[in-house]
Amino acid sequence: MKVLNVVGARPNFIKVGPIHRALEATGVCESLVVHTGQHYDAKMSDIFFRQLELPEPNYYLGVGGGSHAQQTAGVMVAFEEVVEQEAPDLVLVVGDVNSTLAATLVATKLHIPVAHVEAGLRSGDRRMPEELNRLCTDAVADLLFVTEQSGLDNLKAEGVPDGRVHFVGNVMIDSLVRFREKATEIDMLGPLGLEPGSYVLMTMHRPSNVDRAETLQELAEMAGQLADIQPVVFPVHPRTRKNLQAHGYWEDLQGISGLRLLSPIGYLEFLHLMERAAVVVTDSGGIQEETTYLRVPCLTLRENTERPITVTMGSNELMELDAVAVADRVTAIQSEGNSGEVPPLWDGRAAERIASVLINKYHGANESHRVGNKTPGLV
Ligand code: UD1
Ligand code: UDP
Repeated sequence: MKVLNVVGARPNFIKVGPIHRALEATGVCESLVVHTGQHYDAKMSDIFFRQLELPEPNYYLGVGGGSHAQQTAGVMVAFEEVVEQEAPDLVLVVGDVNSTLAATLVATKLHIPVAHVEAGLRSGDRRMPEELNRLCTDAVADLLFVTEQSGLDNLKAEGVPDGRVHFVGNVMIDSLVRFREKATEIDMLGPLGLEPGSYVLMTMHRPSNVDRAETLQELAEMAGQLADIQPVVFPVHPRTRKNLQAHGYWEDLQGISGLRLLSPIGYLEFLHLMERAAVVVTDSGGIQEETTYLRVPCLTLRENTERPITVTMGSNELMELDAVAVADRVTAIQSEGNSGEVPPLWDGRAAERIASVLINKYHGANESHRVGNKTPGLV
């Protein structure tokens, strides 16, 4: 059985690592990795392959940035050739980025089954490119692997037959469980002059927060106010850095004492910082889940979340990007401590469950298909 695993952006590498390993461990599956090149900087891509013990990609499509149409179309054109050449039994996609949707469209049109990992999540906000990617991917993928109850509810409400849906848990947590110990060994706090439990970790990259001057100004204001309360570590996503520089806020941020502005950091370094932070301030999808697992308080600066279990069960709260309100909340959290519970099946074994469903369904399917083709009067 041959599977093409598609990765493109930073969170994809973290999700596919455990899946690739679990497929290989079955002993009956050839698991290939196709990197679309949506993220391409060494600090957004290569470092994750090394740290997550992923093999070099079998294919690198080099698509890079661009408009949504350029990026999606670029992946489609390049990925079609790979699918035609490899004739896989299955294409596996993860998450909600442009590469996810592009690969799904290509494979389904070539009649190759598609499995979508992290299916069913919905923010209900169609202004988010990710929401459109999720809706379209789930509409045509053959197998939908779900991380939380809301995913099951959403797919049911959309009329998806139960047979296509499998509740398996969260592969992002598989990586966290596997590498948590290793991340402990890294020396991050000393060089940054930080004490455990006494700093804010911040990431920000959603277009709704970082693409406009007004929100960037509020973001810079917030960083300043937070740095007055506790040291702030801010590994800056390339989209955010580009926009901060274009709108003239980069120098402002550099002038804030107490703010450690970093380039994007590796998975192990980030995990080390996340586990020891007093609070994480973010708009990331995956970080809402990781902080929930670690029971570290997380303030997500968005109007909605496609991962509601992180709020109802976990340590996540939604807030507006409002400097004063966020600073007030961070002050209050200092005396509250950690909270929340770990959602069902976020146990480090989601990828094994996925591999087992896939092997049961597809292993040997081609042979029986070929045998079946021979029978109708050909010989
Ligand atoms: C993408 C995903 C988003 C995900 C995020 C994870 C879509 C629509 N968006 O957003 O869902 O949360 O990745 O980080 O798929 N850039 C670089 N170097 C890189 C990567 C990007 O400089 O290695 C710059 C480029 O100027 C690029 C811009 O960042 O045009 C945006 O990158 P892109 O992949 O289009 O979107 P993200 O904001 O990264
Ligand atoms: N992450 C990282 N280094 C960083 C910032 C984030 O390794 O500097 C990891 C983080 O732990 C999580 C993933 O990247 O596993 C989340 O990716 P991102 O926020 O870019 O995407 P999203 O989850 O929002 O799609």
